[in-house]
Amino acid sequence: MTAIHYDARVVDDVRRAQIYAGDIHVISPRPAMQALTEWARELLVRGFGDDDLEMLQHRVPVERFVELFAPIKPRFIHHPQTWELICAVVEDMGLDPRATYLDVPRLRGVTSHGYLSSGVGYAFPMHRDTWWAAPMQQVNWWLPIFPIESGNTMAFHPAWWDRPVENSSGEFDYYEYNRTARGAAAKQVKRDTRPQPRITQDPPPLDTPSVRLVAPVGGAILFSGQQLHSTVPNETGRTRFSIDFRTIDIGDVKSGRGAPNMDSAPAGTSLRDFRRVSDRARMPEKLALAVDPRRIAFRKAVFQPPASLLAELAAETAARTVAA
Ligand SMILES: [Fe+2]
Repeated sequence: MTAIHYDARVVDDVRRAQIYAGDIHVISPRPAMQALTEWARELLVRGFGDDDLEMLQHRVPVERFVELFAPIKPRFIHHPQTWELICAVVEDMGLDPRATYLDVPRLRGVTSHGYLSSGVGYAFPMHRDTWWAAPMQQVNWWLPIFPIESGNTMAFHPAWWDRPVENSSGEFDYYEYNRTARGAAAKQVKRDTRPQPRITQDPPPLDTPSVRLVAPVGGAILFSGQQLHSTVPNETGRTRFSIDFRTIDIGDVKSGRGAPNMDSAPAGTSLRDFRRVSDRARMPEKLALAVDPRRIAFRKAVFQPPASLLAELAAETAARTVAA
């Protein structure tokens, strides 16, 4: 059974326990989350050079859309300002900054009527994030940037929370994926050829009810990385833009408290992607080795953005600070 909680007045420890049991939390708009979505919108408007972003797909060829969108994503993902705003969100929500670790966020655009469904606009079919080597302690935070409706939100498939779904995660190696595929999204315009875990069950589990949650802008949906979920095929005529990021509690990683593993068998772990909220410290290596004992250089275990981008964003942040 999956319960959906709205603005539950519970401490984070209780909320995590509920999420590990398959529940979903919906949070009403809060100033810190509004600030994060406004920042994402600012970067999108600046990058696309257009302020009617939801309808832009009707005015430009898809190749141009990809050309404009591709550089906006890493700017948002790796910008120091983004990190600060996400830390403010999790602290506002009562998470302990010394126990909470964050990975880099994602910025997604799901276009309507299949205009773009691969690469930078990849529309995720039903999946669990744990198939991509996410830890069982992972809590996903999903925030729309513009108003959404049932036709362009995301769907949950809670009937499969505690039942295995046959999938190909056993063939997936996270370290190999980081090395070869993760930086190649912008090249996948017509078709996505990157090796992604997928459902192999025949017939696929499409006959169970799904649940679509429609959160307001400035609000969020929180759920376990073990929750089976998918991108709703968008036929609203408008591109849906959203942010997502993930938190994990290190105490839970150490104690093994987390969601049950129903069917995930990838090689590697994404634990090293996470950094501590209080000081950006890395995840202790021994915790990653406890999941996968392969010793691997940090630069191979974690996708590395170009150094030139990081330098550019740092300089931009410094200039903003001086200007302020
Ligand atoms: Fe996902």
